[in-house]
Amino acid sequence: MKNKRTVLVTGGCGFIGANFVRLVHAEKPGWRVITLDKLTYAGNLKNLEGIAEGESYRFVRGDICDGELVASLFRTEGIDTVVHFAAESHVDRSITGPGAFIRTNIDGTFTLLEAARQSWLGGKKKVAEPCFLHVSTDEVYGSLGATGKFTETTAYDPRSPYSASKASSDHLASAYFHTYGLPVRITNCSNNYGPYQFPEKLIPLIFNNALNHRALPVYGDGRNIRDWLFVRDHCEAIVRVLDKGKDGQCYNIGGNNEKENIEVVSLICDLLDAKLGCGTSGQPRRSLITFVPDRLGHDRRYAIDATKISEQLGWQPKATFERGIEETIDWYLANRQWVEDIVNGSYREYYAAMYKQLASGESRPKINRREEQQ
Ligand code: NAD
Ligand code: DAU
Repeated sequence: MKNKRTVLVTGGCGFIGANFVRLVHAEKPGWRVITLDKLTYAGNLKNLEGIAEGESYRFVRGDICDGELVASLFRTEGIDTVVHFAAESHVDRSITGPGAFIRTNIDGTFTLLEAARQSWLGGKKKVAEPCFLHVSTDEVYGSLGATGKFTETTAYDPRSPYSASKASSDHLASAYFHTYGLPVRITNCSNNYGPYQFPEKLIPLIFNNALNHRALPVYGDGRNIRDWLFVRDHCEAIVRVLDKGKDGQCYNIGGNNEKENIEVVSLICDLLDAKLGCGTSGQPRRSLITFVPDRLGHDRRYAIDATKISEQLGWQPKATFERGIEETIDWYLANRQWVEDIVNGSYREYYAAMYKQLASGESRPKINRREEQQ
C-alpha cells in the first residue's frame, strides 16, 4: 500500500525532531518510525513521553557518525525514508566549540548519505520510492540587509561555524543526488519556536529568566531580525515535502514573520505579566531587559521567501506569531518541570560560562539597560 513508510528520524529527541515524531504518530498511522538519537545535552527522552515502542515506533540510542550502526539499521529495518534532523544546532556553542559541529553536522550527514546509497542503490533488493530528506537552515544563506529575502537560488554565504557546517552538509546531500542519483530533498527553514525547545535558544531562555525575574540578555542592540515559524508548521511542511516534493529539489520554509529580537523579548515579558502579574517587585518584566555584548559575527537579518513550497506543494504556515507564541508560553507554563529538569542539570555551567556578565547581581543587572543607553 502506498502511504506506508519506514522512516528513520535522526535527532528525534531534539526540539523539532520530537515535534515531527509526535505529528507523524498522530497523523500518519501507516508510517513506522525509528528514532536514532545520541541523546546529547539537547536530546531528551521526555520529549517523546507517551509514544510507546512497538509495531510503529522504535527508539535507538546511537551516533549518526557510527557507520556500522547506521548501516545495520538500513539492513535490518527496511528503511525507505530518512528525515535527518540530528545536528549540533546552537550558534553560540559553535563559536566556543566548533569541533562537535564539524563532526556531527558534516561527518554524520556523510555517514547517513553513504549508508542510504549503499542500501538503496547498491543492494540487490530495491526499495520502492526511497527518500532522503535533509533538514537544513536559512542560516546557510548568510545575513541580509534591510531588504530582500532568501530564495532557493540565493548563493550560500554561511558565517558561523554552525551555518558553515550545515552548508557543507547541504552540499554533500546535493552532491549525492547529482553524482549517484540518491533521491535527496533539502529543506531550508527559518527560526522555529514552540514546545520542547531547549532553553539555550532565545524564546525559551527569555521565558525561563522572565518567569524567575532574572536579567533578560539581549545581544547587541536587539535589532537583529529573525523570521519566526511555529514548529508544527515546519513539521507539516516536512511531511508535505515527503508526500509531494521532488527529488533533487530544495524548498525554503519560513513564517513570513520577521521580528526584531527586542520585540520578541518584550512580547514574552508582556504575556507573562498579563498571565501571572508582575510579582512582588511590582516591576513589569520588560525592566529586566539587559543589553549584553553581541554574538561574534552576529547575522543581522534573516527572511525566507517561501513562494516555491507554497505554489508547488500548497504549503502555508497556519499559526500567526501572536497565536503561536501564546500557545508556546502556555506550554512552558504548563510544563515548568520539563524546563526545571534541564536548567538544574549541566545547563547551569553552560549558562554561567555563556552569560558571565550576568553571573553576579542577576536580578538587578547593572549595565546596558536600554534606557541607560539612550
Ligand atoms: P536540537 O539541538 O534541539 O536537537 C538535536 C537533536 O540531535 C538532539 O536530540 C540530539 O541529541 C541529536 N544529536 C546531536 N548529535 C547527534 C549525533 N551525533 N547522533 C545522533 N543524534 C544526535 O535541534 P533542533 O533545533 O531540533 O534542530 C533540528 C534540525 O533542524 C537541525 O538539523 C537544525 O540545523 C535544523 N533547523 C533548526 C531550526 C531551529 O530554529 N531550531 C531552524 C531551521 C533548521
Ligand atoms: O534561522 C534558523 C536557525 O535559528 C537554526 O538553524 C538554528 O539551529 C537555531 O538555533 C536558530 O539560530 P539563531 O541563532 O537565530 O537562534 P537563537 O535562538 O540562538 O537566537 C535568536 C536571536 O536572538 C539571535 O539574533 C541571537 C539573539 N539572542 C539569542 C540568545 C540565546 C539574544 O539576543 N540573546 C540570547 O540570550
